[in-house]
Amino acid sequence: MLKYLLAIDQGTTSSRAMLFTKFGKVHASAQEEFEQHFPKDGWVEHDPSDIWQTTLRTCRKVLSDNNVLATEVIAIGITNQRETTLVWDRKSGEPIYNAIVWQDRRTAEYCQSISTPETEALINDKTGLLLDPYFSATKIRWILDNVEGAQEKAENGELAFGTVDSFLLWHLTSGKVHKTDATNASRTMIFNIHQQVWDEELLALFNIPAAMLPEVMDSSDNFGYVDSALLGSEIPILAMAGDQQAALFGQACFEEGMAKSTYGTGCFLMLNTGSKALKSKNKLLTTVAYRLNGKPTYAIEGSIFMAGATIQWIRDGLKLIGSACETESIAEKVPLDHGVFLVPAFTGLGAPYWDPNARGAILGLTRDSGIKEIVTAGLQSVCYQTKDLQKAMESDGLRPSLIRVDGGMVANNWLLSFLSNILGATIDRPEIIETTALGAAYLAGLKAGVYSSTDELANMWHCEKRFTPTIDNEQRNNLYGKWLAAVQRVKS
Ligand code: G3P
Repeated sequence: MLKYLLAIDQGTTSSRAMLFTKFGKVHASAQEEFEQHFPKDGWVEHDPSDIWQTTLRTCRKVLSDNNVLATEVIAIGITNQRETTLVWDRKSGEPIYNAIVWQDRRTAEYCQSISTPETEALINDKTGLLLDPYFSATKIRWILDNVEGAQEKAENGELAFGTVDSFLLWHLTSGKVHKTDATNASRTMIFNIHQQVWDEELLALFNIPAAMLPEVMDSSDNFGYVDSALLGSEIPILAMAGDQQAALFGQACFEEGMAKSTYGTGCFLMLNTGSKALKSKNKLLTTVAYRLNGKPTYAIEGSIFMAGATIQWIRDGLKLIGSACETESIAEKVPLDHGVFLVPAFTGLGAPYWDPNARGAILGLTRDSGIKEIVTAGLQSVCYQTKDLQKAMESDGLRPSLIRVDGGMVANNWLLSFLSNILGATIDRPEIIETTALGAAYLAGLKAGVYSSTDELANMWHCEKRFTPTIDNEQRNNLYGKWLAAVQRVKS
């Protein structure tokens, strides 16, 4: 009997496969971390075979460990780390270079070299993005420039470009399907978000051959079937969406003004703006939230590069803690205004600063500062950065009607209580915090007819815990003012 929706969540540091029941409850999950490669300052790469193999293994594991047959899976939804760029040979399926990860800053100089007010306006008008190494276009350019013969092969149609969704789809269908969805396309800097097409003028600007691009589909659509040799049955793939967009969907933020903030490797605050692609005056991004039946819904997004990754660095780099869950009890022992600030500009600063050359710092250390303060400052940096985004949204005249949070980090009550305090806003944590995967399952379920509408999904959302501010404006402004001063110190 068909019982489950399988969500593949291919993230920056791990791949995960989750089985959901038709009622949106987690049935089982499997997860595998994989290696990050940092070949040079500001460079971040993934081995493409790690991306594929960890995905395949976790899909197999979640089925076999839970005695679920592939024939019991209604459909698959794929969600993924966005912008990360892969180029592979269409015939052999072999990538011609490692995946260049969204955090990678190697094209900062190139971006600077083509930056004029006209180019920046052109990019922003058409794609809703800013000229920054974050997005795929300059990463594709780098691969075509640095792998011998690549430009020519791409022009001859021998190479395929894809973000992680396309790359996984290609592998799941054993090279039969080369497609992406509108949310992922909207992060490449070559997709016109108003006309919903690859933009010829931008392709010419970056000299990217159209022959290497995937076909752009709705987020809920027929993407093909999994090769039965891989999982044991030809499961239909009925959804693809970038992870932040999938989280917005899983949080049931379907109304204009509803917002979610996801705390994974990075942090992404996204506000639904409905059928209008609003333009930010404060360096936030305009992006496709989801596209259903050919109709795009848009969002304004603030993107921060380091959230969970900061805690990972405190754990693995500094070795100050053994596991991330220790941070909650550590922070409880420290006063909010302990004076230490950690600015995690390890790969530059994202919104609203967009400073690829800034680098991280720990400021305000005294003789009695120690592990507790640094760990707490790491958690606080995540909240202060969210405040930066909230401020930018407010300057754009956008005040979210509510903020729903998700991602692994939000299991930490101290973090959410400080977040609510520093934002001066109510924060809602849903019953399922792995909302990214849930959103992919919902999108697939919509196409499969498991769900009739987004209204039905909205009724399935439940708040598990609400956090409200407990500090006054004076203390809030005081803390935030010190954060802003710390950020000034690291800017390039
Ligand atoms: O834009 C990058 C984002 O999609 C990565 O998300 O969850 O891997 O931090 P995550």
